[in-house]
Formats: sequence, structure tokens, C-alpha cells
Amino acid sequence: MQNIYNEKEHLKANEISRRKMLAALGIATGSAIVAPLAGNAAIYTSPQPNNNFSLNGKAAIVTGAARGIGRAIAVALADAGADIMGIDIAAPASTETTYTPATKKDLDDTAKLVQAKQRRFIGVVADIRDMNAMNNAAAKAIKEFGKIDILIANAAIQTYMPVAQMNQKQWTDVIDVNINGTFNSVRAVVNQMITQKSGRIIMISSGQGRHGFKEASSYSASKWAIIGFMKSLALELAEDNITVNTVEPGLVDTPLTRNAGRWNLALKDAGEPPQDNPKEEDVIAARLKTQSVQKIPWMQPEDVAPAVVFLCTDAAYRVTGATYDATAGDSAKYTA
Ligand SMILES: NC(=O)c1ccc[n+]([C@@H]2O[C@H](COP(=O)([O-])OP(=O)(O)OC[C@H]3O[C@@H](n4cnc5c(N)ncnc54)[C@H](O)[C@@H]3O)[C@@H](O)[C@H]2O)c1
Repeated sequence: MQNIYNEKEHLKANEISRRKMLAALGIATGSAIVAPLAGNAAIYTSPQPNNNFSLNGKAAIVTGAARGIGRAIAVALADAGADIMGIDIAAPASTETTYTPATKKDLDDTAKLVQAKQRRFIGVVADIRDMNAMNNAAAKAIKEFGKIDILIANAAIQTYMPVAQMNQKQWTDVIDVNINGTFNSVRAVVNQMITQKSGRIIMISSGQGRHGFKEASSYSASKWAIIGFMKSLALELAEDNITVNTVEPGLVDTPLTRNAGRWNLALKDAGEPPQDNPKEEDVIAARLKTQSVQKIPWMQPEDVAPAVVFLCTDAAYRVTGATYDATAGDSAKYTA
């Protein structure tokens, strides 16, 4: 029987159509090189990856920079060479949160840590829910830095309550800050990045945006939403040389989690009874029982920051639309 599939003919036809396709796409648009075909040589190669992990000369905006993960990211970005605008509400963001709010002094302390790295820090007290305030902050960054290379949309809040007992604000405040505030943060900088034809946007989601979480459904829903927003935005901005990714921390020791509400969830998770004032050693034991991949009870903010820094570098130019887990191994238990 005659072989109806002729591999040589097929490859030749493919080669011609690839050449036609590249010519039709006008692919030498600055980001790719069309090399002459010789034998099986590649006709498309990417620009040489430059392994540039420095952020020297870059300008970054970090929301929620007064403390916790936002502060650690601001300091790590400065350590890699970036100047920083740190935005924070520096006040209670909701009547429904049960942990201590950040203060202006916290933001000033972040300023000192960034300045100790010999980098500029501009502190802005603003609520990410306020679109005008975010536009003003972006305008100030452009005036002071001349550009915006990086946005870290980090600010967020969390409430704890079973849905059956949840009041309206325990749902809407979390959704408003975590989703609408993240949108506002992006919206304020995105046109500048499009004009520049470059940018890095990293949104801080959560392990709880990758799986359900009992008694914290508004937070989980908001963090899941951030991933959908990130992926859609990555599609919209790819041709403008802007990458968009999320980082999902596991449990990190910050004021958001070092409180009776969150610690009691950890105790319950391990089948332990809740306590009025949970003892740290009991919570550590409970965590080690349930989250024992790297055998630590929780991470430090500085453990998360390097993953964020990497995504901001030139070297990360082919990483976009990605969820990037920094969970001390919890993510090994997710399905994908
Ligand atoms: N701590 C964790 O275990 C953990 C885990 C996964 C993800 N995260 C995420 O990491 C990010 C930082 O969390 P954290 O643990 O450092 O919390 P945190 O409460 O210590 O810090 C959050 C900062 O955001 C600020 N903020 C809150 N609402 C704001 C608003 N409306 N406008 C401006 N600023 C506002 C706060 O004032 C605070 O300084 C959040 O997105 C959080 O969801 C935290």
C-alpha cells in the first residue's frame, strides 16, 4: 500500500509556510530575530536572555508597604536597585478586621529601611479603594521618578467568619479592598506602562486563592479573583512588553495572621479546640501537624519577597500570566 504521509514533503511544506508566516507577521519587530534557513537551523530565536537580575534604575510602586509582606518586598526591591513609592492606608481599612491596623509610623519605618539601601522612598498615605488618590499617586511617581517600571499590588485585608454568620461588611469590605483596590492600583499605572512599552505587574494573591478556606470565604474568593484578573490582564498587555503575574504566599507571620482569629483557624484545622488567647506554642504544634512539608509553622515576609523580585527583573521577561507559589511546600498539595 502506498504511504500517503511523506515526511520529507511534509517538512518542506511546513518550512515554506513557516517562512511565509514569519514574513506575514513581520516578526522582526524588535523582539525576535529571523535567521537564514540552513538545513534544520531555527528560523526564529528569542533575544538572548541576559540573566539580568538587577533592578538598578527601576522605579517601583508597592501598595500596603507599611509593614508585613509589602514592607519586605519594598526593601528587597530596593536591595536589588529600585527606587520605591510605598502606598498605605496607615489606618484601619475596615471595621470588620480584628487585627491591629498599620500606622504612619510603620510606613515611615519602611522608608528608613529602603533609604538604608541607598534608594529613594516616597511614602503616600492613600486607600487603594480611592481611584482619584491612586491616580494622584501614579502622577506623583511619574513626576518624581520619570516612569513606573513595577507595580506590586499587595495591599489587602482579611476577615474570619462562617458564611452562615457573616455580615454584609465582612464580605463587601474584603471584596472591595482586595479586588476593587487591586483593580484601581493597576488602572492608575497601566497607561504609563503602555506608553513606555515596558512594565512588570505583580499582584499578591494567596495560597487561599488556590484552594478553599473554611471561615475565610470572602478572602479566598477575592484572592481567587485576583488570579483571573491577572491572567486576563496578561493577555491584554503582552504585546506592550508588560508582564503580569501573581505570587501566592503560604502562611506568613505578619499582623494579618498573628492574631486570635487566624490562629484559631490553625488550631481548628488540626482538630484542636479554639482558645480565647491562643498560645503560640500550641499554634506552632498545630501548624506542624497540618502543614509539615518544609516542617515550619509559617514563613517570614522576607521568604516571599525574592520570588517577587525575580518577576520584576529583565530576566523574567518570558514569565507572564503565571501563578507563582511561595508556600514552603503547601502548594505541593494543590492539584495543579
Ligand atoms: N500573611 C499571610 O499569611 C499571607 C498569606 C498569603 C497572602 N498574603 C497577602 O499578602 C499581602 C500582604 O499581607 P500581610 O500579611 O503583609 O498583611 P498586613 O496586614 O501585615 O499588611 C497589609 C498592609 O496593607 C495595608 N492596607 C490594607 N488595606 C489597604 C487599603 N485599602 N489601602 C491601602 N493600604 C491598605 C495595611 O495598612 C497594611 O500595611 C496581602 O495581599 C495578603 O492577602 C498574606
